[in-house]
Amino acid sequence: MGRKFFVGGNWKCNGTSEEVKKIVSTLNAGEVPSEDVVEVVVSPPFVFLSLVKSSLRPDFHVAAQNCWVKKGGAFTGEVSAEMLVNLGIPWVILGHSERRSLLNESNEFVGDKVAYALSKGLKVIACVGETLEQRESGSTMDVVAAQTKAIAERVSNWTDVVLAYEPVWAIGTGKVATPAQAQEVHFELRKWLQVNTSPEVAATTRIIYGGSVSGANCKELAAKPDVDGFLVGGASLKPEFIDIIKSAE
Ligand code: G3H
Repeated sequence: MGRKFFVGGNWKCNGTSEEVKKIVSTLNAGEVPSEDVVEVVVSPPFVFLSLVKSSLRPDFHVAAQNCWVKKGGAFTGEVSAEMLVNLGIPWVILGHSERRSLLNESNEFVGDKVAYALSKGLKVIACVGETLEQRESGSTMDVVAAQTKAIAERVSNWTDVVLAYEPVWAIGTGKVATPAQAQEVHFELRKWLQVNTSPEVAATTRIIYGGSVSGANCKELAAKPDVDGFLVGGASLKPEFIDIIKSAE
């Protein structure tokens, strides 16, 4: 079974309602391959989720950028998985490196979040990736394996998980991983899944790349056999996101 190409747009903490409407109208006008070829998911800030969901073309889907680790309650400022489900939001991004580093989210906490979100029926884009220091010290695979292990220990059904490999040194820096660097880590991650989950999970789980993906570099990255799509930050706010979606073909 082939893995359907996946393109996610993470808008991070950007946008006014006017800007969001403009991005949505650009997306709605874009000519892209059909849903049979590519799955497209955009992730606006929480406050714009309903606006985007109600105005976005039906072949594109919506993700939240985070959710709480358990059932809602007295957790000021948090948004629960149940609330996302209630709003009809199908996807959530969890474990993004900005949250791991700025908000001290540990591997275990991210694993708990992934398991809880899945248990409530959300689909999860789970992010892993090493810092420059970790890459330079040769521990890239140890780091991403530990991050993935914390998820695998808590999750048995990977059908609704997309794994996003996002090297921290490539995020927002303009310093994209080379196609060979991305392929190497994706291949190793797939091998890790094969040994530690099952051959079927390894063969079917989409592993997407994130970090300075642009209209100019996406085709070469997409050509690599273990790169099943992208999680795009900065360029997902621009018309070139359409070109990145087209790299699915
Ligand atoms: O979630 C997206 C990544 O953090 C990539 O961001 O494309 O701006 O480097 P970027």
